[in-house]
Amino acid sequence: MTTEPQTILITGVTRRVGAHLAGHLLEAGHRVVGTYRHETDALHGLMERGLIALPLDLLERDRLTGFAQQLAMRVERLDLIVHNASIWHGDEDCVADPSLAMAMYTVHVTSPIELTEALQRTLPAPARDNGQASRQVVFLTDAHIDEGEPQHIHYIASKAAIEGSIRSLALRYAPHTRVNAIAPGLLMFHPSDDADYRRQRLARRLLPFEPGPEVVAQTIDYLMACPLINQAVIRLDTGRRWGN
Ligand SMILES: NC(=O)c1ccc[n+]([C@@H]2O[C@H](COP(=O)([O-])OP(=O)(O)OC[C@H]3O[C@@H](n4cnc5c(N)ncnc54)[C@H](OP(=O)(O)O)[C@@H]3O)[C@@H](O)[C@H]2O)c1
Repeated sequence: MTTEPQTILITGVTRRVGAHLAGHLLEAGHRVVGTYRHETDALHGLMERGLIALPLDLLERDRLTGFAQQLAMRVERLDLIVHNASIWHGDEDCVADPSLAMAMYTVHVTSPIELTEALQRTLPAPARDNGQASRQVVFLTDAHIDEGEPQHIHYIASKAAIEGSIRSLALRYAPHTRVNAIAPGLLMFHPSDDADYRRQRLARRLLPFEPGPEVVAQTIDYLMACPLINQAVIRLDTGRRWGN
């Protein structure tokens, strides 16, 4: 476990995984900056606990440099960037409104890459004498890239695109920054998911339980603690039932 307090940026902390992760890292004594589009009770609760909240809409690519400059006025270093923000449109929605497919590529691929670049320009990660990286970038992708998801082809394709970029980004940024991905399967159901759907989803897993967002926090702790991990994709999917 890293003992020194870190400065961490997490995109999309208004609910669920992002909100839980921000709370976990604040609890551990780190300085956490979280982005939001819509204010929520969860966001306000995190701000009361010390979260630095900054508005950011990843669909507005022309504002990413401005965001990086705004962040550089609030913090003097950046040790970890977690690209968590996401949208999850099904393929039927993308047929009805073709702009939604491009929006997923913008939020999951183009803007996170451009934001990472803008942050490197405004808050450069220094190279260290001991050869270890001074910054880490983590992308939240999706275990269904391997399993397949026939109703969410655009969503999965966009997550696969960013997962496929981590090797190139790590090559560009070495030795000052390492780049990894966490690819969860089911973490938590939506309140609207009915009992039948929950039973079917759990039955497809080798370990049939709903893990909750804590497993992402545990994996971030591990990635922060172990300086050797680079260009890795950590799958959080309870193992796979190949052939089914
Ligand atoms: N939950 C799961 O079971 C699961 C499974 C596999 C992978 N994942 C991945 O894990 C991550 C977190 O999942 P989650 O379920 O917590 O997601 P979520 O509930 O959909 O929350 C996504 C966050 O992204 C933000 N966001 C959406 N559009 C944005 C935009 N244009 N610009 C900036 N922020 C935006 C949202 O903020 P606003 O509400 O303010 O827009 C929200 O805070 C995602 O990357 C997801 O793909 C989750």
